[in-house]
Amino acid sequence: MPKQDALPRPVSIVGAGMSKFGSFPEKNSRDLFVEAFKDLRITVDKGFDPAQIEAFYVGNFSSDLFEHQGHIAPLIADAVGITPCPATRVEDACASGGVALRQGIMAVASGMYDVVLVGGVEKMTNLPTSEVTDTLGTAADVPFEISAGFTFPGFYAAMATAYMARYGMTPDHLKHVAIKNHDNGALNPNAQFGVTIQKWMEGRIAAALKKGKPAPKWNSIWDFLNDDGGNPMVAWPLRLFDCSPVTDGASAVLLVAGELANSFSDHPINVRGSAQASDSALYGRADLTSVPAARIASQKAYSMAGVSAKDIRIAEVHDCFTIAEVIASEDIGFFNPGDGYKAAEDGVTARTGSKPINTSGGLKSKGHPVGASGVAQVVEVVKQMRGQAGERQVAGDIPLALTHNVGATGSTCVVHIYERTN
Ligand code: COA
Repeated sequence: MPKQDALPRPVSIVGAGMSKFGSFPEKNSRDLFVEAFKDLRITVDKGFDPAQIEAFYVGNFSSDLFEHQGHIAPLIADAVGITPCPATRVEDACASGGVALRQGIMAVASGMYDVVLVGGVEKMTNLPTSEVTDTLGTAADVPFEISAGFTFPGFYAAMATAYMARYGMTPDHLKHVAIKNHDNGALNPNAQFGVTIQKWMEGRIAAALKKGKPAPKWNSIWDFLNDDGGNPMVAWPLRLFDCSPVTDGASAVLLVAGELANSFSDHPINVRGSAQASDSALYGRADLTSVPAARIASQKAYSMAGVSAKDIRIAEVHDCFTIAEVIASEDIGFFNPGDGYKAAEDGVTARTGSKPINTSGGLKSKGHPVGASGVAQVVEVVKQMRGQAGERQVAGDIPLALTHNVGATGSTCVVHIYERTN
């Protein structure tokens, strides 16, 4: 692969915020985005005037189907008071947020703009799960995959099955990813499921007793996770706790030209690598155990940044299902093929491990409002790199971090690398 040039002009992140993730029947996309924008404003430590924003890119997968509302970019721009700046919606399935970020980076790096707002938003819980599944299915190859009966849990189940057959992983190995991400999410006040699996299980037992029902016979979280009552099968080998949930939420970051960064913040984070790749839908791929677009985007981002996987201290990866995190951890080069599940089991990817992944709780526990997830990953790495992640703060210096955001089963993948400045 030819060496990738650095960005033609330095780009910095000077603030990053998000709404609470969860189910909010009373809120629409605009309300959620306003929350994220307010949170962002607090994080730009030297402050800014919204009138300084010259362009806005927002990742959103399907407000049309989820909310019966199209053309949301200018509506959101109006809600946060930044009209008449150009406002553009970016759609690349679950990678919409990450791709919106890349559009914003390119807009600043090109010299066209100095100050750009990037965000992501999705309001999913208006629909029942069956209709959410249908809507998400439109991100796949509908005539070739959905018409044949596939759903997203089904796709990732097929990837898990192929991976197990090749590398000897078992369904129990995947549960280590869920346990870790719930441990992290329990320390994230914005997470949809801010609770450990141990506490979740205890809550279920207490609720049964309160209703006068017999207490489930779960002596440990492993009993709970292996019981159809506690953790029902969704698509073998993936159970409920292998899946990300259906979520409402929004996220936002402020990008500025590198030379202006210090006038916005004492803690700017520089964008060092930005790369995106595309691929056929899953049915067209010879190998289901890795995601080629993720490998290519990672290599290009590393090349642009002039660093390698060993230099990256933390990563937020796209764990829409537990198997997706295992495969991602290999695709970004943290581990060799077939070693990702062992790293999860051995605690290497835990907050206290040598390669922490998804300290935010990931999509699994923090939630997955699909268009917002890619930008919410940036919110976490900014918090961690600034040393502002509270109880879930990774110990020691974090000079470099990475985000990995996937659309569908990897027809789109976008990878970014960030550098702490001071
Ligand atoms: N993990 C753990 N618990 C979950 C959960 C998840 N992902 N999703 C829902 N729950 C819990 C709910 O909190 C609720 O618990 P309670 O009864 O104690 O209140 C219970 O499970 C039932 O919730 P409900 O919303 O009715 O679940 P569901 O069966 O309708 O949906 C899934 C569950 C897994 C099918 C759904 O979340 C899903 O489709 N996830 C995948 C989304 C997806 O594909 N995203 C795109 C990826 S590319």
